[in-house]
Amino acid sequence: MLLGTESDFLQSAALKFTDHDVVICGTFAGDDVRAIKQVRPNAHVVVVDSFLGLAKPSFEDTSQETVQAGECNIGGVEKYKSYFKNKSELPDEIYQMWITPENLMIVKSRPISILFLDLDHYQPTKVCLDYFKFMLVNKSVIIVHDYGFHRCPGVKIACEQFGGTWTGVPGCTFGVQIK
Ligand SMILES: C[S@@+](CC[C@H](N)C(=O)[O-])C[C@H]1O[C@@H](n2cnc3c(N)ncnc32)[C@H](O)[C@@H]1O
Repeated sequence: MLLGTESDFLQSAALKFTDHDVVICGTFAGDDVRAIKQVRPNAHVVVVDSFLGLAKPSFEDTSQETVQAGECNIGGVEKYKSYFKNKSELPDEIYQMWITPENLMIVKSRPISILFLDLDHYQPTKVCLDYFKFMLVNKSVIIVHDYGFHRCPGVKIACEQFGGTWTGVPGCTFGVQIK
């Protein structure tokens, strides 16, 4: 699900923002985790996902081709793990949940160097930005996939409501903010 350029960008971020945890919300089959572990095997990677695809879109997500509930369903956490042929590349912590402010509270507070969000919809993107923002250390990075992508308008709305300066990355549908 990641373009080569996006995988390259994630890897360069993994080599630059090295001090603390990498948190990935929306991992599907784990291409993002493997990209990072391949260049930083010792990175502490935390993933959060329903492992059952997208929830219902909200009105902020409305477009002619809105991504819909149930898309990107990997079929559960055990199926997810089976995509990791090299078990040493598995995430260090896996949280299976529908992302809501209440459910996210089981993810303990920790210093974060990289927050990667790839959730396609407004509500989970907003909830994750609001929950993890206090854990981002100085010199950390937020990378949001589908920022500006026409099928995911709610993602950009959530980022704009979060505030700060978002920049695009050539060849990627990423919005990036350095803290
Ligand atoms: C586009 S895929 C992620 C692709 C992945 N980052 C990659 O590199 O291939 C979106 C993921 O977000 C998860 N997701 C979307 N909305 C969610 C929600 N409300 N709660 C939990 N997980 C959600 C889906 O289950 C899916 O795995």
